[in-house]
Amino acid sequence: MTATLEYTPALQTKLPHVGTTIFTVMSQLAAEKGAVNLGQGFPDFECNPKLVDAVSDAMQRGLNQYPPMTGVPVLRETIAHKIQGMYGRRYDPNTEITITAGATQAIITVILAVVRPGDEVIVLEPCFDSYVPNIELAGGTVVPVPLTPGTFRPDFDKIAAALSPKTRAILINSPHNPSATTWSQADMLKLQELLAPTDVLLISDEVYEHMVFDGHDHQSTARYPGLAARAFIVSSFGKTYHVTGWKVGYVAAPASLTAEFRKVHQFNVFTVNTPMQHGLATYMADPQAHLELPMFYRRKRDLFRAGLANTKFKLLPCEGTYFQCVDISSLGVPERKLPEADFCLWLTSEIGVAAIPLSAFYGNSFDQHVVRFCFAKKDETLNIALERLARL
Ligand SMILES: Cc1ncc(COP(=O)(O)O)c(C=O)c1O
Repeated sequence: MTATLEYTPALQTKLPHVGTTIFTVMSQLAAEKGAVNLGQGFPDFECNPKLVDAVSDAMQRGLNQYPPMTGVPVLRETIAHKIQGMYGRRYDPNTEITITAGATQAIITVILAVVRPGDEVIVLEPCFDSYVPNIELAGGTVVPVPLTPGTFRPDFDKIAAALSPKTRAILINSPHNPSATTWSQADMLKLQELLAPTDVLLISDEVYEHMVFDGHDHQSTARYPGLAARAFIVSSFGKTYHVTGWKVGYVAAPASLTAEFRKVHQFNVFTVNTPMQHGLATYMADPQAHLELPMFYRRKRDLFRAGLANTKFKLLPCEGTYFQCVDISSLGVPERKLPEADFCLWLTSEIGVAAIPLSAFYGNSFDQHVVRFCFAKKDETLNIALERLARL
């Protein structure tokens, strides 16, 4: 019998529900059709050249080999200083802060470190698309709890009802992608009270922490001792410094939790690229860049919202992030009746503006006629998009 030389064994997928993400589909379609891409969340403008200089300076100084597994010390110290200044909690940079390859790697690493087969993890839908597959890869059971449709506020009765002796963790995200809502002090206190009698861990995705508008303060988990003591706080420099492609972020957590986190981190990424870490530490030493960010994005939000106010889209509030959600049900075109995902395909192909359907952030594709635009774009880009959207 002649054995075939080339044989690829069949695989049973670990993630049967995962295909190409809607973000990739929309970005590809937008490129193909020459549409303005307000779909995927990334800026179309450059970061501050000082940041690029700081990174290239680090490379020129020969900082190009493996950094410590936990991250470059000066960056961990700068982060600890920032968190303490803004939220009042001191994290020990040696034992409580770890640099990660963006928030995505941070979150999967937390989940792999703490979730065992059979554990339940509560996610609040709509939620960022990596959470559910991450939990499934760890063998955990996803327990989806909807944010209140219409307002996207957390429903603490529903969260309380979802807690069980098997609940290992709850994942929260404020400022929230995709709804652009933020959690209030009352929300955080309520969560603190709810979790107090439990062993449930908190995973707090705060990648948009510096994009909170209208004079409000970001309610970081780090401000609430009862929550911080059980929490992994995740953030990302990609969002804050307009460098989403650099994929550098961090996790802050109490020492005992960090120790477990690092056991997994050292074997799934080990370290994160060195010159970027040095460059970020140098740049971040001046807090101006992150302190100015709310004003920077607030102006873009207001420009975009003012333009949309002249269209038939119904605007949802935007308290934080660089996303604006709109209700499509009163548009003057028959396509308003399409499911959100089909509407977005049509909008991209025929009107020339890409958006993301909110249904993509729900396990059951819940459709509420709402789509998400990203306004982290040059004013010219936003103005072109607004001109096109005005036709609807
Ligand atoms: C809520 C949320 N969490 C995590 C991430 C991933 O961040 P990073 O690019 O740092 O991996 C994103 C990026 O869009 C996000 O919106």
